[in-house]
Amino acid sequence: MKAHEKGFFTEENSAEVVTGRNKNARDERLKAVMEVITRKLHEAVKEIEPTQGEWFEAIQFLTRTGQLCTDWRQEFILLSDVLGVSMLVDAINNRKPSGASESTVLGPFHLADAPELPMGANICLDHKGEDMFIHGRILDTEGRPIANAVLDVWQANDEGFYDVQQKGIQPDFNLRGVFRTGADGRYWFRAVKPKFYPIPDDGTVGKLLHKLGRHPYRPAHLHYILKAEGFATLTTHIFDPDDIYINSDAVFGVKESLLAEFKRIDDPGRAKDYEFANPFWDVEHDFVLATEGA
Ligand code: BEZ
Ligand code: FE
Repeated sequence: MKAHEKGFFTEENSAEVVTGRNKNARDERLKAVMEVITRKLHEAVKEIEPTQGEWFEAIQFLTRTGQLCTDWRQEFILLSDVLGVSMLVDAINNRKPSGASESTVLGPFHLADAPELPMGANICLDHKGEDMFIHGRILDTEGRPIANAVLDVWQANDEGFYDVQQKGIQPDFNLRGVFRTGADGRYWFRAVKPKFYPIPDDGTVGKLLHKLGRHPYRPAHLHYILKAEGFATLTTHIFDPDDIYINSDAVFGVKESLLAEFKRIDDPGRAKDYEFANPFWDVEHDFVLATEGA
């Protein structure tokens, strides 16, 4: 028997026997990853001691999860989201220098071809919901404004649906827009106050959440992708801190620094300038981008 061969498979040496077989792997990273996964998986099975029936139920769950995946629906990403793995991978890959804005999950509803709009535009095309003015600055970690930064924003409407979930009900590109900062790094646009909504919960992930006594809701938020030359791209959200689900986001995307202040403003003059009903909402939030490679 060669050194890497651990003999016949037993309950005790199971992981070593399996990983030993990978000694000729052509890809060192794959070999290392499979070593860890095999070890942890065998450890879990040994601790759980599943019955054959339970093991088959797990296989069926994964089979049904895969069968639900299409170009429009990715049930495995959703599974990764509700297990906190998406946020963990995001955290590992987006360690920021101090002072830089933090990242969070991208989610499935971004569209790459949203229109570029003039600063101040109203991204709510159907005028349904409570008017909201959103503004702030895009800065570097020294507090200097970043010119020519691109802010890509998308959000759900005040019933908790994205335009892509309500084709024919909401106008295309409703509540989406791309804005570019001037020399002062400032951005401002008009929208409506978003609402909490459930992640798609009519599949295996929804059933799992239900069985675990968990709800499928995400607290109200706006999504952003911020890009500027020489800076690391930032994928993030801002959240309504008063949302009922702020402490129990189904996908663990909330971070303290991403809580914005949603202020109710009673100012007929400003409302008139923005073509809003009075009172309206005002959200001021600065974003700080880390230098590329920092
Ligand atoms: C979202 O915020 O758009 C989202 C994120 C993760 C899963 C589902 C939706
Ligand atoms: Fe979202």
